[in-house]
Amino acid sequence: MQLTARRALYQWYLNFQRPLPWRMTSDPFHIWLSETMLQQTTVAVVVPYFEKFLRLFPTIEHLARAPESQVLKAWSGLGYYSRARNLHRAAQLLSERGRFPRTYRELLELPGFGPYTARAVSSIAFGEPVGVLDGNVIRVLCRYHALSLEWWKPAQRQRLQEQADLVVQDFPPAVMNQALMDLGATICTASRPSCALCPLRHQCLSLKEGDPHLYPLKKPRRQKQFWVWEPEIWVQRGRIALVWNDGAVPFLKNHWLLPGLARQRPSKPKKFRFCHHITHHEIFVSPRCKTGRPAAKDWKWVPIKKIDEWVPASLIKKTLESTDKNGSPLI
Ligand code: ADE
Repeated sequence: MQLTARRALYQWYLNFQRPLPWRMTSDPFHIWLSETMLQQTTVAVVVPYFEKFLRLFPTIEHLARAPESQVLKAWSGLGYYSRARNLHRAAQLLSERGRFPRTYRELLELPGFGPYTARAVSSIAFGEPVGVLDGNVIRVLCRYHALSLEWWKPAQRQRLQEQADLVVQDFPPAVMNQALMDLGATICTASRPSCALCPLRHQCLSLKEGDPHLYPLKKPRRQKQFWVWEPEIWVQRGRIALVWNDGAVPFLKNHWLLPGLARQRPSKPKKFRFCHHITHHEIFVSPRCKTGRPAAKDWKWVPIKKIDEWVPASLIKKTLESTDKNGSPLI
């Protein structure tokens, strides 16, 4: 990116950056937490989770000492629980070590740190001059340089990474990376870019060509799958039966789950209580109330009051909050 464009981007961020809670600090724990949460959802959803999480676990040491079930509970609703588990494991390693790594190369060694998180944390918290690539940044860079590349393929992504690394040269990396993120989120949006307001409009090649919407190329979508799931609700003395999902059910693998069959269907079924999406799985749920004990192996009773410490997934919550065909609560 040309120097004049980078200067304009820098100035634009100083004037128009979004006031976000993780921007009021350079505490690497706060920045790491925000970047981990932001990988799954939008800023608007993350802000209250971020604040609540830090009230519960104000430091890496607090997080490291907490039981995993509490960490998952605080994460409940954000999805992708493996991110919360990795965050917890990394906090335990860091707490033993007593020092937070300052380079993205060292950060990559920790559980849950991929290239995005490692680069975001080292550049924002420590000013390491490395660029980050997320969806917003990819869109801005592809449009700015009018790049028709298949950015989801490693070799082509590497080309974009080189462009991202050039943006942060000679300017504060925390500013430049977050400026690209904010520009993509607020101005250079996917469907309606506001080019007249863009600090890069004078140099943007896609705008010169006439149609920024041509960039970036669209990633081919993973085919959606339809699944029917019939969770069984076995309740006894305030406890509910859960089974360990070792992969027999294709969503929420390696989680505790309600017992019951999941079957793939070629199309949407007509009858179901509610529908829930997890990645490319579209799940049509029909819960069944049962009496006695499940026939499944690897099952156990869990107090209903503690259910979200065992299965914080919103699919389970929705199932237990759903009603039968007469509108009565299931439990
Ligand atoms: N998305 C991911 N990281 C972000 C950040 N630091 N600021 C704004 N949006 C983001």
